[in-house]
Amino acid sequence: MTREPMIAPSLLSADFARLADETARIADADWLHVDVMDAHFVPNLTLGRPVVEAIARVSPVPLDCHLMIEDPERWAPGYAELGARNVTVHAEACTDPPAVARDIRAAGALAGLALKPGTPLEAYLDVLPDFDTLLVMTVEPGFGGQAFMAKVLPKVREARRLVDSGHLALFLEVDGGINADTIEQAADAGADVFVAGSAVYGAADPAAAIAALRARARTATGRRPA
Ligand code: DX5
Ligand code: ZN
Repeated sequence: MTREPMIAPSLLSADFARLADETARIADADWLHVDVMDAHFVPNLTLGRPVVEAIARVSPVPLDCHLMIEDPERWAPGYAELGARNVTVHAEACTDPPAVARDIRAAGALAGLALKPGTPLEAYLDVLPDFDTLLVMTVEPGFGGQAFMAKVLPKVREARRLVDSGHLALFLEVDGGINADTIEQAADAGADVFVAGSAVYGAADPAAAIAALRARARTATGRRPA
């Protein structure tokens, strides 16, 4: 199954003093990616449920919450309850990934599993049928503006192969260092959701940046064998 590429700007690179205005600037996107960091799972702290709830009230597009936090079992369902379309937890932080997926889905969202660059796909193949989204990190989680790690792409390729052969049904999302120079590699490897923080919010015209990223991803996706 080949989906239209989806672009998910990351609010991490937006102006946090003007969050409502910043969501309005990406109305052409598919999802708004919101990075929740707790200063424990990653060495950075961003925002939590009350702020995400406020963003959800004003965002013109559905929220894609990426939880880089410890104890996701405890916190993830709350993000589904506030209306996020997709809630992703880190495999490395979960003790029982299928249980978290069940709770996220029961609260009304798609459930995502994220893998850090060094975390192998193989270790999670048996739990992925419980998820709707696989987020492959193409940088070490924690900060925006880092360089894309092409060495992670074999993981995307393998996941694509499993989806295309009917073994898994997942959105394949990449996050980190995605820009006009790297998105084609990621699309070629089989990603269909592209998170882009600095490439969208660092652009003078975020809407144009989204359109350009989408066009490049579409071209590369079109070249992929069906
Ligand atoms: C990093 C976050 C990313 C980040 C991406 O830990 O998960 O979503 O915002 O930023 P860019 O696109 O600038 O690499
Ligand atoms: Zn993210």
